Order: sequence, then C-alpha cells, then structure tokens
Amino acid sequence: MESTRSKLIHVLSINDGNFISGQEISDLLQISRSAIWKHMKELEKDGYVIEAKRNKGYRIIKSPSKVSENTVQWGLETNWLGKSILHKETINSTQLLAHQLAMDNAPHGTVVIADEQTAGKGRLQREWYSKKNKGIWMSIILRPTILPYLAPQLTLLTATVLADVMKKELELDPKIKWPNDIILHDRKVSGILTEMQAEQDQIQYIVIGIGMNVNHDDGEIPDDIQSKATSLMIESGKEWDITKLIQRIFVAFEKSYAEYINHGFSIIKKRWESYGYRLGEKVQLKTFQSVQDAILTGIAEDGALLAKYDDGVIHKIYSGEIDWFGIRH
Ligand code: BTN
Repeated sequence: MESTRSKLIHVLSINDGNFISGQEISDLLQISRSAIWKHMKELEKDGYVIEAKRNKGYRIIKSPSKVSENTVQWGLETNWLGKSILHKETINSTQLLAHQLAMDNAPHGTVVIADEQTAGKGRLQREWYSKKNKGIWMSIILRPTILPYLAPQLTLLTATVLADVMKKELELDPKIKWPNDIILHDRKVSGILTEMQAEQDQIQYIVIGIGMNVNHDDGEIPDDIQSKATSLMIESGKEWDITKLIQRIFVAFEKSYAEYINHGFSIIKKRWESYGYRLGEKVQLKTFQSVQDAILTGIAEDGALLAKYDDGVIHKIYSGEIDWFGIRH
C-alpha cells in the first residue's frame, strides 16, 4: 500500500515550486488539514524547505539532496518499485533487514537503503565495503511468480539494468563480468547479491542486494582492493547525485522486470551478452572443482555461464569465478 506520505510527495512534486491549496491536498489524499500539517513538518525534518501561505496553500522551495525515504520518492516515476522504502543512516547490512521485512510480509518492491553498512555482505561470504554517503547500498524485495531455479535470471537482469543506467544515462562504458560484477575499465564498480527464501516449486521472496561505489575518490578505496575496485566518480571525474541515481535504477528496473515477466529471459540474455566481459576470449575460470583456461561463449537460458574448455566441450557453469589474474595483462 502506498503511504499517505508518498502520495503527498507525489502531489507536491508534480506541482513543483507552485502553490497547492490545503483543500486540494486534503481532497486528493482524503486526509485532514491537520494531518497535512503534520506531514509537512516531517518533510521539513528531512531538509525540505516548505512555504505555507494563507489562501494559497503550500509550496516547496527547496528539496534536500541527501538520501531519505522522502527524497527517493520525490518525483519517482514507478508503479511498484520503491513505493515502500526504509532508509537507515547506518545499518549492519540492508540484506538482513530486508529479510526480516520480507518475512513480515513486506510487499513486492519494498526497498531498504542505507547511507552506511557496518557489515556489508558480498558474494561467497566476502565483506562488502560500504562507506558512508559514498555509494548505493540497498536491498530490493521481490515476490516473483517464477520457479526457484530461474532466480539467477533476476541477478543477470539486475546487472543489465545497472549497466544500462551507466551506459545510457551516465555515458560510461560498463561491462558485466559473470555473474554480476559491473566493471569499468577492468575494475569493479558494482556488485549484486541475490538471496532467496523458497520451497521446491515456489519462491517466497527474493532479496536483491545492490552495492555501487559512487562518489569515492582514489584515496577512499581501501588499499587491499585498490587494484580491483573503482567508483563512478573515479571513472567519470564527476560527483553523482545518489538519490537521482537510485531513482533511475528503479525506473529502469521496473521496465526491465516487466519485459522479463511478459516476454521471458531472451531479451535480457541478449542484452547481458552485449555487455559481457571478455566474451569470446580465453580466461582462467575457477570453480569449486577446478581452475582451468576456458573461452567464454555466452550465457544459457537458465543464467549459467557457457565456457568452452580445452577439451572443446561447452560446459555450463553455475557457480565460480572468472579469475582476475587470468584476465589482467
Ligand atoms: C558482490 O559483488 O560480492 C555482491 C555485493 C553486494 C553488496 C550489497 S550492498 C547492499 C546489500 N547489502 C549487503 O550487505 N550486501 C548487498
């Protein structure tokens, strides 16, 4: 259910800078004048500057740039994604809170966002470094009606969404390193962690965790990952508005998700392959079973990586890693 606050934000944002009367808001949202006043006070706490004039109503003079439930919902053009947002300044991991909310029946499209994570989780039990106000650290709850074995497709979908936003809106040249690392100039800028609660033939929920390094400068990337990690700012020389980036990701995600649900995985697969890192090249592939040279030929319908080993046979890889050392010159 969309909250009254997010409806109010919608009404104010479409009237951007112009007065809207208390009566009009009250009619639109079916709430009392005093309830409106209380909501306005909450918005002010978030840094909005609101002018209230007798006979004219309310208008917003200034919106804050910091990330909050309200700023992300401000002007957000989505139908279901981000209609319910929980924002925390600091948290252990947005994944953990998202799981709790999902178990408490949080709806499809609920998002947890944090300014900082003290125990950010990466894939394969790794840590995910999440410096305060420097990146996007968020978890999206989904309740897709697909079979559990197809869930990896949603990770690949998410990777294409992030790559699309970077390419089409930020004019960068991202690649996707299987399964889900977004790479700029051979260094990782973003990663995705998908976790799910499911039975044999039904998904209860999926939590898609997205980490993106945005405004770190060189000195803000920890030494031990310096050679492998980067940020949008390091690559573009520009500082980015994190709130706006989150909104762009939500809009692109919703569009891509609808395509996937309505038309299946093939469009996403093609798009993923168009961004595929080192596709057609020989790399070193590390799986639980072996470390071998392989040529990456693409991805399969079920999201597996297709790799041709020296025996000439194309293998489907479900879990493993393309070794960084095998691909660096
Ligand atoms: C990876 O590349 O290893 C995945 C990184 C995923 C990091 C994100 S940040 C938001 C969410 N919360 C977490 O603790 N992890 C994911």
